[in-house]
Amino acid sequence: MDNVLVIGAGFMGGGIAQVAAQGGYTVYLQDINPEALQKTMAQVKWSTEKLASKGKIQDSAKSVQDRIIPVKDLSIAPKCQWVIEVVFEDEKMKKDLFKDLDAVCPVETVLASNTSSIPITRLASLTKHPERVVGLHFFGPVPMMRLVEVIKGNMTSDAVFKKSVDFINSLGQYPVKVMQDIPGFIMNRISGAAFREALDLVEKGIATIEDVDKGMHYGFNWNIGPFEIADNAGLDTYLRVGKAFSALGAGDLMAKSGILEKMVKAGRLGRKVGKGFYDYTPDGKMTPFDVTTLK
Ligand SMILES: NC(=O)c1ccc[n+]([C@@H]2O[C@H](COP(=O)([O-])OP(=O)(O)OC[C@H]3O[C@@H](n4cnc5c(N)ncnc54)[C@H](O)[C@@H]3O)[C@@H](O)[C@H]2O)c1
Repeated sequence: MDNVLVIGAGFMGGGIAQVAAQGGYTVYLQDINPEALQKTMAQVKWSTEKLASKGKIQDSAKSVQDRIIPVKDLSIAPKCQWVIEVVFEDEKMKKDLFKDLDAVCPVETVLASNTSSIPITRLASLTKHPERVVGLHFFGPVPMMRLVEVIKGNMTSDAVFKKSVDFINSLGQYPVKVMQDIPGFIMNRISGAAFREALDLVEKGIATIEDVDKGMHYGFNWNIGPFEIADNAGLDTYLRVGKAFSALGAGDLMAKSGILEKMVKAGRLGRKVGKGFYDYTPDGKMTPFDVTTLK
C-alpha cells in the first residue's frame, strides 16, 4: 500500500490524513507548528472513536490512528507515493514547497495541492516535472464530506490525473473532475457567489444571518447555510482565499465587503474559536452575531 505525506496539520490536513488512514494508507503528517500537530492528533482520536462507535469505519479507531505518523520535517517525502500540500493559502509558500518537493521526490511521486483558489499550473511552475502536479481539493470537515475536486493543471499528465481520480475513489470519496485549471475551480465559484450575495444582503440590513441560513436550509435543502459554512471553514481561511482570488484578478469570486476583514481582526475566526457569524457554546447552542456592531 502506498505511503501518503500530508503537509500542514490544520483543519483540512488533519481530516485528509484521517480519511487516507481510514482508506488503509500509511500517512505521515507534518506541520511547522508542533502544537497544531498535537491538537490535530487529538482531534483525529476523537473523530475516529466517534465514527467507529457508529460503525461508520471498517477498522478499529486505534488501527486508523496508528496509521498516522506525526513527523517533524519532510525527510520522509522521497519514500512517499503521494504528497498532499495543505498549508496556508499563500501562493509563494506553496510554490516554494512544490519546488523543494520536486527536487527530492522520485518522478513517480504525485504532488498534490489542496488549494481552494490558486490554479495548479501556477503552483507547478517552479517544478521540473509539472506533469505530476495535480489539485486534490477536499471539503471540510473532511471525514464528514465526501466531495473532492480533482483538478487537471495545464501540464498535469492524463496518467497522473486518472491515478488521482482512482486514489480519491480508493478513499471512499467522490471525485469531481475539473478539466480546466481556473481560479476557484467549480464548487468555490458557486459557493463563493452565494456567500458574496448573502453577506451583501446582511450588510445592507435586508436580511439577518439566521434568516439567510434558515432560508437556504428550508427553501433549497442545504444542510447548513452560507454563514454556518463559512464559520466551519474558518473566516481567516475565507479571507486568505478572497485575497488569493483578488491577486489572481478574480476578486469578484468572493465577498467584497470589509466585514470579513473586520471579523478576523476582532478574533471572530469561526467555529474553531467558538465565535464567528455565530457564537457557539459547548452544549451546541448557536446565537447569531450582529455584524453591524463591528468597528
Ligand atoms: N478550511 C476549509 O474549509 C478549506 C477547504 C478546502 C481547502 N482549504 C485549503 O486548505 C489549505 C489549509 O487550510 P486549513 O483550513 O486547513 O488551514 P489551517 O490554518 O487550519 O491549517 C494550515 C496549517 O498549515 C501549517 N503550515 C503553514 N505553513 C506550513 C509549512 N510551510 N509547512 C508545514 N505546515 C505549514 C500551519 O501551522 C497550520 O497548522 C489552504 O490552502 C486552504 O485554502 C481549506
